[in-house]
Amino acid sequence: MEMDPQQKRAALRAINYGLYIVTATHGGQTAAAGVNWVTQASFDPPLVVVCIKPGTETHDLALESGGFVVNVVGADQIDVAKSFFRPTVVEGDTLNGFTFHTSPVTGAPHLVDLPYWFEATVTDTVTTGDHTIIVGQVVGAGVHDDTVEPLVLRSTGMNYGG
Ligand SMILES: Cc1cc2nc3c(=O)[nH]c(=O)nc-3n(C[C@H](O)[C@H](O)[C@H](O)COP(=O)(O)O)c2cc1C
Repeated sequence: MEMDPQQKRAALRAINYGLYIVTATHGGQTAAAGVNWVTQASFDPPLVVVCIKPGTETHDLALESGGFVVNVVGADQIDVAKSFFRPTVVEGDTLNGFTFHTSPVTGAPHLVDLPYWFEATVTDTVTTGDHTIIVGQVVGAGVHDDTVEPLVLRSTGMNYGG
């Protein structure tokens, strides 16, 4: 039986996602992107997977530097996230207007207004389909505010998937 494209889309969009700002820095350049295809993939070592579109600055800088940071967007922070669906502007210690600190291992920024972050060094990439599957080992992490619940993408009415 042929797969019904509408049912395929509805079923894939029913995967629960959060929303994350992935950042990377290399050679004095920094990029950040709003991303939902993120998951943990191993306890020991602690591995995570992010799927990033080739040709975006964040993709290229993550692979060139061999590292990236994942910033977790909080439940009431969709407006912060929306500024990261556009090209990144770095001014002083701000990224698209939001203050960042430099992560110790990867040198990529973590955003102080977002509640949780972790940094990872790239261990593997899988080149298949239209996004690169980037596997990273978590080498640093921090909590800016542990009272904040992470955002659930579906609650925003936005989607990326299907
Ligand atoms: C809701 C939403 C989720 C997104 N999720 C992803 C994702 O998982 N992976 C990805 O590569 N791009 C994703 N994007 C697109 C990126 O945000 C966009 O390509 C990015 O801003 C490119 O920035 P850059 O060229 O500065 O790196 C998503 C966009 C939206 C609106």
